[in-house]
Amino acid sequence: MKGIVFANQEKYLTTLRNKPDALIAEMEEFALENQVPILNWNAAELLEMLVRNSKPKRVLEIGMAIGYSSIRIARQLKKKSILHAIEKSKVNIELAAAYIDRAELTDKIQIMEGDALAIMPEMKKKYDFIFLDADKQDYEKLFHYSLKLLKKNGIIFIDNLLWHGFAAARNVPAKQKKSTQIIREFNKLFLNTPSLQSTIIPVGDGVGIGIKVRK
Ligand SMILES: C[S@@+](CC[C@H](N)C(=O)[O-])C[C@H]1O[C@@H](n2cnc3c(N)ncnc32)[C@H](O)[C@@H]1O
Repeated sequence: MKGIVFANQEKYLTTLRNKPDALIAEMEEFALENQVPILNWNAAELLEMLVRNSKPKRVLEIGMAIGYSSIRIARQLKKKSILHAIEKSKVNIELAAAYIDRAELTDKIQIMEGDALAIMPEMKKKYDFIFLDADKQDYEKLFHYSLKLLKKNGIIFIDNLLWHGFAAARNVPAKQKKSTQIIREFNKLFLNTPSLQSTIIPVGDGVGIGIKVRK
């Protein structure tokens, strides 16, 4: 998959990147080798900064995969804060649980196994921060569920909104047409949701950031 940032810019930023710790580096390598789509490192740094600065008590992640972003989020949390991570793939849950154990974050990350489409409508308690990173065809529904679960002044962070560059492309390969259409429609919805102050930033694969300004 293509990146959305000019290759020379990406290369330049990578040369400046502070070396991640061994576990994070291992997870990035694993994801690359096994084609697990994890958050781009640069976008992950932005996510970490937002989490750190907003000091959320309750964080929800929708789509945990191998736990890469979960670990990066959890490391920013204050002592009594918690991350609930929903994941439907048993294989990914097994991998994530092992990494979370190695990161010594089992007390900070609670894995919720199953389909977020079924789990979220049953959830009642609200969250201060939500990271949406699941299947793109589920985005619209999961976004509506997220809005209901997000506290006022809470932050929602959404990955892949520039969809490997296809969202802005004139010519989209046939294989990507449907997913691109879904993302384009979603972006309009996201940026026109009255309860949110929202923007899309061209970092990583394009991240959406929204603050819930009213109920
Ligand atoms: C892009 S990956 C998540 C990457 C992870 N957030 C990271 O950056 O390290 C998407 C994950 O979401 C899971 N997923 C997709 N749709 C889901 C749904 N409706 N409910 C639960 N998990 C879902 C997939 O199984 C996959 O592991």
